Amino acid sequence: MGATLGFGIDIGGSGIKGCTVDLDAGQLHGERIRIATPDPSKPDAVADVVKHIIDEFGWTGPVGVTLPAVIKRGVAHTAANIDKSWLGTDASALFAERLGLTPAEVVVLNDADAAGLAEIRYGWPDDRDGVVVLLTFGTGIGSALFLDGQLVPNTEFGHLEVDGHDAETRAAASVKEEQNLSWADWAQRVTRYIRGLEDLIWPDLIIAGGGVSKKADKWLPLLEVRTKVVAAELRNDAGIVGAAVAVREGLHR
Ligand code: BGC
Repeated sequence: MGATLGFGIDIGGSGIKGCTVDLDAGQLHGERIRIATPDPSKPDAVADVVKHIIDEFGWTGPVGVTLPAVIKRGVAHTAANIDKSWLGTDASALFAERLGLTPAEVVVLNDADAAGLAEIRYGWPDDRDGVVVLLTFGTGIGSALFLDGQLVPNTEFGHLEVDGHDAETRAAASVKEEQNLSWADWAQRVTRYIRGLEDLIWPDLIIAGGGVSKKADKWLPLLEVRTKVVAAELRNDAGIVGAAVAVREGLHR
């Protein structure tokens, strides 16, 4: 029997990535395509790239798309690392129109929510119960909150105020790069951040995602926090896989 396929597109500040997804295995099906995000990253220009990627695959079915933004019923309410003209844009309607799909065939969701969906559905099987938070450490800090596997969309825990600062400006992976911080120094900042978060929502598990989760052995053991923290399993492709999952699950919120 053939695999159940879906399609996911992950839009970020620097790249737009898309691929067919094997929804049975929770993996990419074939080679993903990555195209640099247009500069400026205005909605029309980004929609052109999305269409181009989908056409390359010859895909004509429903599509899930992530944005680094709060998305409510398809409309972008924030715009992190993408052009500010996304604010108030009905992204679902835009992509549906450009792709020749009905609005019901396009699901647009926050990038970290998508990554979290992929992890929760296909990652660590023992850890899906209770209150689980996925944090993506990249240019900023994204978050996805789950209760017994059910997504509570659009949490923005990366913007928690820690010591008077927006947390992601202190503890994102990009800050480690820019300030050339050692693993120990950066882990201390992440510790401070997670302590603030865990005092507010008392999660049962935290999953650390983003590119830096590939080097989890360098910093997870250095964290001094109460909550168990594990590295994400799906890494870079989680956004694409999660976008396709969101379509299958009809997440049009
Ligand atoms: C944004 C989130 C996004 C995260 C990761 C944050 O700055 O506010 O919406 O999920 O970056 O891209």
